[in-house]
Amino acid sequence: MDTLDFLVRKDQLSRTELRTVPAPALDAGQVRLRVDKFALTANNITYAAFGDAMSYWGFYPAEDGWGRIPAWGFADVIESRCSGISLGERFYGYYPMSSAVVLQPIRLSTAGFSDGAAHRAALHAVYNSYLRCSSDPFHTAQTEDQQALLRPLFITSWLIDDFLADNNFFGANDTGDAIVLLSSASSKTAWGTAFMLAQRKGIEVVGLTSAANVEFCKSLGCYHRVLDYGRLEQVAADAACIYVDFSGNAALRKDIHTRFANLKYSSSIGGTHIDRLGSARDLPGPRATLFFAPAQIKKRSGEWGADLLGQRLLQAWQAFLGTLGKPGQPWLVVKRHQGPQAVSAAYADVLAGRGDPRLGHILALN
Ligand SMILES: NC(=O)c1ccc[n+]([C@@H]2O[C@H](COP(=O)([O-])OP(=O)(O)OC[C@H]3O[C@@H](n4cnc5c(N)ncnc54)[C@H](OP(=O)(O)O)[C@@H]3O)[C@@H](O)[C@H]2O)c1
Repeated sequence: MDTLDFLVRKDQLSRTELRTVPAPALDAGQVRLRVDKFALTANNITYAAFGDAMSYWGFYPAEDGWGRIPAWGFADVIESRCSGISLGERFYGYYPMSSAVVLQPIRLSTAGFSDGAAHRAALHAVYNSYLRCSSDPFHTAQTEDQQALLRPLFITSWLIDDFLADNNFFGANDTGDAIVLLSSASSKTAWGTAFMLAQRKGIEVVGLTSAANVEFCKSLGCYHRVLDYGRLEQVAADAACIYVDFSGNAALRKDIHTRFANLKYSSSIGGTHIDRLGSARDLPGPRATLFFAPAQIKKRSGEWGADLLGQRLLQAWQAFLGTLGKPGQPWLVVKRHQGPQAVSAAYADVLAGRGDPRLGHILALN
């Protein structure tokens, strides 16, 4: 049996290769899973763009300057030398863009396991854990595509909203409504953040996006205002505001820091504008601060306990998921890409930022 890997050149993300390698025999304690499907969004491209700086290449190493981009999805156990993991079991987690993967389960529980591979020991635990679909409260068979596409992003969205509220919006709403500006407002992570923020009082949620995506953002129903990137002057220069940056666009960040004298906080979340990334040094106003989701999870787990945090996340997730299918609400349109050539083509499109933000791409190499 062979394994098919989708490889990306680390220093040139547009160069890809499909490589077939013989599947290694399992060692004692290991399992082999067939990767059934995974989601591909700008988030995965960011994993690659920051692959070295933030160790994303470290999860599934490849050789000679090539990398395997991690992706969230579902996989089934097709071979097991690990007691406690049965053939046919299905797990949600962080997989390579490959047809199959070998993992080394440790810390087994009814909820799932962690991959104990030595090369992953120093990487963040949240990416090393695999959840049994049979006991995962987030899992329903009918919503697997939505889970692969939105769940990891929505959890970040929820944490951003919680982090801002936890910090009293950095004083931005002390004397009136605070404005929260979100770039790449058409991204799924910004959408989830806007969904959460819009439920709070005293916050005006302003989406910034490309001209082509303005109508889509308006249709989401959770932005109070949507502006294209060239219309910043429509927000008063003295407004008390917070910038939540999903685009990583250095020029836009500079414009925002320069225009808004009352910018209370600047949070760097992502880098969708992959060809416009740049240094955040020497900006007027507050320091652009990288948002580190695991830190907020750790804080809330400590304060509330893991169970209560899990319940709150689940409740918010179910509410968010509920909006996808309501009449008048924007459906997330799932588009499937099955097989090696289709996966390569979908990757090229997502890398180029082409396409309709309504689409959610679900890929499979098998
Ligand atoms: N820090 C964290 O823990 C964390 C967690 C989750 C996500 N994120 C980050 O949040 C960002 C959004 O991720 P997502 O998966 O939600 O994105 P997504 O839904 O795939 O976003 C699509 C949108 O991103 C913009 N875009 C994508 N590719 C582009 C390109 N090549 N050139 C210009 N614009 C492009 C466009 O938005 P506009 O036209 O509106 O700009 C597009 O509509 C990513 O950078 C991701 O890494 C960070």
